[in-house]
Amino acid sequence: MRLEDILFSQGFGTRRVCAGLVQQGFVVIAGQVCEDPGEFFQPEGLRFAVQGMDWPYAERAYLMLHKPAGTECSQKPSTWPSIYTFLPGPLRTRPQKAAVQGVQAVGRLDQDTTGLLLLTDDGKFIHRMSSPKHHVPKVYEVTVKHELTVDQVERLLAGVVLDDDPKPVKAAACEAVTPLHLRLTLTEGKYHQVKRMVAAVGNRVEGLHRSAIGSLILPEDLLPGQWRWLSAADLALMSASKA
Ligand code: URA
Repeated sequence: MRLEDILFSQGFGTRRVCAGLVQQGFVVIAGQVCEDPGEFFQPEGLRFAVQGMDWPYAERAYLMLHKPAGTECSQKPSTWPSIYTFLPGPLRTRPQKAAVQGVQAVGRLDQDTTGLLLLTDDGKFIHRMSSPKHHVPKVYEVTVKHELTVDQVERLLAGVVLDDDPKPVKAAACEAVTPLHLRLTLTEGKYHQVKRMVAAVGNRVEGLHRSAIGSLILPEDLLPGQWRWLSAADLALMSASKA
């Protein structure tokens, strides 16, 4: 693939801008400045640097972000800053792939929810991870207002009825870690599901954090606002994840 096409596919600008970056000596591969935008490279496994920013070629982007509180999972946020502002420019301006409009969050977390969020421009991955049919478990650490009772935990496991559907929704797993800390595992992603389920058993969510999706656990060293590429091992864990 031509170097300018590689940069274009990764979101570094129009083909003309990408050719300019190369011609101006801003692109380094294996320690060498490359000045020919038409030079051919095998893209798979290629690492390069553009203006000092190290970049691994990725045909599709798969990322995790530690979402901080006070941010919206929307490209056009209404009140709070968008989570997309944490991503570097090329990930926000990658050319559209098939039906997917650039890199997008896989499902949404509320403004005040923190924790693990996946992002990708792979439409099939978004579908597989969000579809209730695939039963990918999401683990939430919930701080509640009132001390938890055995009855509340049992009702969450047995199923509660929410206002938009007569069919009860059940937690795939639920435990009181401490009297005010509930660990809840869900396989669907209904609107405000954790908050509504906890309210349905007579308690109230005071803090909500997603700690894992499938077997993928939010790494302790990924601080709020930080992101990283998913590794091949992370992706393998995700495709093996089922409740
Ligand atoms: N359930 C909620 O209520 N909010 C979230 O952000 C995620 C799950």
